[in-house]
Amino acid sequence: MATVLAIETSCDETAVAIVKDRHVLSSVVSSQIASHQPYGGIVPEVASRQHVEIVNSAIAQALQEATLDWSGIDGIAATCTPGLLGALLVGLTTAKTLALLYQKPLIGVHHLEGHIYASYLAAADLQPPFLCLLVSGGHTSLIYVKDCGHYKTLGQTRDDAAGEAFDKVARLMHLGYPGGPIIDRLATQGNSKAFPLPEGQVSLATGGFHRYDSSFSGLKTAMLRLTQKLQQENPALPIEDLAASFQATVAKALTKRAIACALDYGLDTIAVGGGVAANTGLRQHLQAAAQTHNLRVLFPPLQFCTDNAAMIACAAAEHLQRGHISPLTLGAQSRMAI
Ligand code: KG4
Ligand code: ZN
Repeated sequence: MATVLAIETSCDETAVAIVKDRHVLSSVVSSQIASHQPYGGIVPEVASRQHVEIVNSAIAQALQEATLDWSGIDGIAATCTPGLLGALLVGLTTAKTLALLYQKPLIGVHHLEGHIYASYLAAADLQPPFLCLLVSGGHTSLIYVKDCGHYKTLGQTRDDAAGEAFDKVARLMHLGYPGGPIIDRLATQGNSKAFPLPEGQVSLATGGFHRYDSSFSGLKTAMLRLTQKLQQENPALPIEDLAASFQATVAKALTKRAIACALDYGLDTIAVGGGVAANTGLRQHLQAAAQTHNLRVLFPPLQFCTDNAAMIACAAAEHLQRGHISPLTLGAQSRMAI
């Protein structure tokens, strides 16, 4: 049994959580969305500054909510890659300082491994091997989870990540940032069959591409052309129908690849992670398809789909139990394959 305090500052959420194995004792997430909204996207310098301002109070709050002091913490973890370098450094340097000060082991965690471990917070009985469909603002990956620390990427995006596609399409429709939740909300009132859209150039039959890779840039361009054409006819866009059609196309593309991959590799469970795992359309589509193939699908609770530190702490607790400890010289890296 290991109790870990984790800090996650890879992007625009300052998050601190305490997890005892797969049980969340506290989870603090301070979103910076309001600060980045005027720019229509994340400004790295603004993100780093806000992490510095907030991280100490988030740590104090996490300890208070878990009714623990440092004597109850077995290890200190931080996301060390991938992400915005300046932002990662804030969390990692804070974790290193605390590890040194309180003489606790340090555990550096890959952000994507955290998203995989969010599924253990949904189902503590989950056992590898399973397939993880990781869909976030920066990644769209199908990952074979063999064991803790043993992952094989079977498919990824050739261009935009799924969340990035939601954000970019929302921007071209002037809907605001972040686009995923806004499109999700609008889609509930729209007709998903209103506009037929291209699903992505990557065919399951390969043809130069990897069988499980996805591509969303063609869909994004199709949305741009469609909105321009519709706007010429009538300046008031049918945003609900556009949102529903776009969302259904993304959900279909992701579902098709995840199901094909799970069946090909004989895996009976698909665990979904990342911000886009919160998407209503994807949840419905994948659940329905999985049921027809007798596959189990796991979606983390909504607050653990988007960036949070509980998922990082959960991964770190397992690493700590296996004796996987990071040196205090551990560096942050903006990019690293899982
Ligand atoms: O995992 P995450 O919080 O951060 C990254 O690691 O990237 O994912 C953020 C992404 C954003 O692109 C956001 O628009 C998208 O997840 N997102 C959604 C929804 N909620 C968040 N996309 C579709 N539907 C949602 N409900
Ligand atoms: Zn993330």
